[in-house]
Amino acid sequence: MGLVERDKKYIWHPFTQMRIAEAAIPIVKGEGTLLIDEKGNTYIDAISSWWVNLHGHSHPYIADKVYTQMQKLEHVVFAGFTHNPAVELCDKLSKHLPSNQAKFFFSGDGSSAVEIALKMAVQYWKNKGENKTRFVALDGAYHGETFGAMSAGARSIFSAPFSDLLFECTHIPFPKDEQAAIQSLKTEIDKGGIAAFIFEPLVQGAAGMRMYKADTLNKLMQICIEAGILCIADEVMTGFGRTGTTFAVNQIKAKPDLICLSKGLSGGTLPLSITTCTKDIFDAFLGDELEKAFLHGHSYTGNPIGCTAAIASLELLEKKECQMAIKNIAKSHEIFIKRINSIEIIKDIRQTGTILAIELKSDSSGYSSSMRQKLYQDFLDQGVLLRPLGNVIYILPPYCIKEKELEKVYKVIENQLKKMR
Ligand SMILES: Cc1ncc(COP(=O)(O)O)c(C=O)c1O
Repeated sequence: MGLVERDKKYIWHPFTQMRIAEAAIPIVKGEGTLLIDEKGNTYIDAISSWWVNLHGHSHPYIADKVYTQMQKLEHVVFAGFTHNPAVELCDKLSKHLPSNQAKFFFSGDGSSAVEIALKMAVQYWKNKGENKTRFVALDGAYHGETFGAMSAGARSIFSAPFSDLLFECTHIPFPKDEQAAIQSLKTEIDKGGIAAFIFEPLVQGAAGMRMYKADTLNKLMQICIEAGILCIADEVMTGFGRTGTTFAVNQIKAKPDLICLSKGLSGGTLPLSITTCTKDIFDAFLGDELEKAFLHGHSYTGNPIGCTAAIASLELLEKKECQMAIKNIAKSHEIFIKRINSIEIIKDIRQTGTILAIELKSDSSGYSSSMRQKLYQDFLDQGVLLRPLGNVIYILPPYCIKEKELEKVYKVIENQLKKMR
């Protein structure tokens, strides 16, 4: 039996209707931006494999560091024990994070990082003797697939089967309309009981790479800070250079109380996430009673191999070449926008840093839209991995993408758009 048949026998793939899904493509190697299948076909990974990869696949620098660490210590229980990779990673991260971020709590994926932030926010207020359990989020938000993360996210086809079990979260208008968002936030604040405001800073990923201004986010956060409401920045997608700065919140003055990191944290090498918080939040959990502590953890919390990959990835990100690459990708996107923006089928075209999104005129805009499936297949057939979000085609490439490869991605999209005119 070949790999495709064996996959069919065993594997239940994520976000997939298994009955009608095309056979999964067996990837045997990753090199730079390229994914290589069993038959030797190559695909340019223009979405960084679900937004995780920063420096290309199977990066030798990260691979070497991981191999060395594996021979020293693969894992140790993180309650009562510690190790250098975890501490060093926090030390390195703290140089890039807003200066108020003091403590780091490890987990394994973006949803868990969000879940932890939500739990910390609720217990923070409980520990302070206040019963604040409501959340405010943005219309269209996506924060992950666990129950808390789903509750904070916009209601959708993903969360529909569980709608009766999700807790209350008010979704204020998407801040492209600044006044509507501000007004709605103030109205919610007046009702009282809000533990935290959670948001994807500057770019909402899963909603279709929807973008809004740093200045608007600053205003919304300022309102929350003045009202004593915690701000949770979900940087799971936007973190590690995607928006042009290491973190999206580096572009605003207001400082979040909690930040969720994952995806690019390990450079796309291993599952790893961190929830960071202020000293004030951490201090609210201190006491002589166990009840006041944050009684949360996962078996693989603080995994040394994941932390080592993250340190190596951050070192690569800090290099001048990588910072230049981020700027160059952004510049190339700007030029490409000018090249295609008069094509009839385009409804909106937008960019923040290395993220480019092209929204098409279409009647069907959801995840299940037939346009999405057709575009996905057409792009793959031409050797480019792009997974449109409904009627939105987006590019979110690894920073090592070569000029020639990026031009191929542009060309494939441009040809497709012209065909659709
Ligand atoms: C902003 C944001 N938060 C959280 C998540 C969930 O992360 P994970 O898929 O690692 O659980 C995602 C995933 O796409 C995301 O984009």
